[in-house]
Amino acid sequence: MSLIRKTWMLDTMLPARLTQPLDSPPKFRKPLRMMTEFRINVRDGVYLSSVQPGDKAALLEHLRTRDVYETTLNIPHPYSAGDADWWINKRIEHTATRSKEVTFAIREAGGKLIGVVSADNFEPGTAHQAEIGYWLAQPYWGQGIMTDAVGAFVRYAFAELQVVRLTAHVFDFNIGSARVLEKNGFKLEGILRQHCRKDGKLIDARFYGLLKDELS
Ligand SMILES: CC(C)(COP(=O)(O)OP(=O)(O)OC[C@H]1O[C@@H](n2cnc3c(N)ncnc32)[C@H](O)[C@@H]1OP(=O)(O)O)[C@@H](O)C(=O)NCCC(=O)NCCS
Repeated sequence: MSLIRKTWMLDTMLPARLTQPLDSPPKFRKPLRMMTEFRINVRDGVYLSSVQPGDKAALLEHLRTRDVYETTLNIPHPYSAGDADWWINKRIEHTATRSKEVTFAIREAGGKLIGVVSADNFEPGTAHQAEIGYWLAQPYWGQGIMTDAVGAFVRYAFAELQVVRLTAHVFDFNIGSARVLEKNGFKLEGILRQHCRKDGKLIDARFYGLLKDELS
């Protein structure tokens, strides 16, 4: 994994009196606050980075069909502009207030979001394990992208999030997702009967786990 830490300055307007000698002319200037962005290389032409406000259009484009909805639990359908705003704002707020990023946009070379890989509910520093989730826009399926994206995220999580165990739940019929996990070393730890309910239907879940020690 190539992990590039890009540091930049975030401007915030504060009164000049807080930052300048008292005898200087009263004017406003922009003190600087340090922010850190992670950019993780997945493969040529695909990388991970933080979610941004500009991702709204791609979310609406990719999630307008049922392709991703059918095999996930927490993505609404139909997917509205309000859903995209809510999710983007939640991720940006998380990034601004936590020490570590836990949700990444999967991006093609031009920067367009084509999917997401995350441990959305993980609070850095509070637990030794995290549950991961992921989705990829349908036009990009079947090219090995998610296998590589999950691999990059797993290496990041074990290196940066102080976890020793990662888990994932997969609908029993979602063979592609099960393969993504197995190809990254996750072990099937059990079948959780009727564990999920979606659109009124009870669905068995495959429960996968990977220990840090098992990472090859
Ligand atoms: C499931 C999903 C993540 C797979 O992503 P992907 O980039 O297409 O997967 P990959 O190309 O890396 O393929 C990984 C393996 O799964 C297999 N696979 C992928 N889709 C498959 C399918 N529909 N049926 C059977 N096998 C499939 C591939 O052949 C490959 O296995 P192999 O190397 O042994 O041949 C993607 O289809 C997706 O986002 N689906 C909707 C959301 C979702 O299900 N998220 C996961 C929730 S747990």
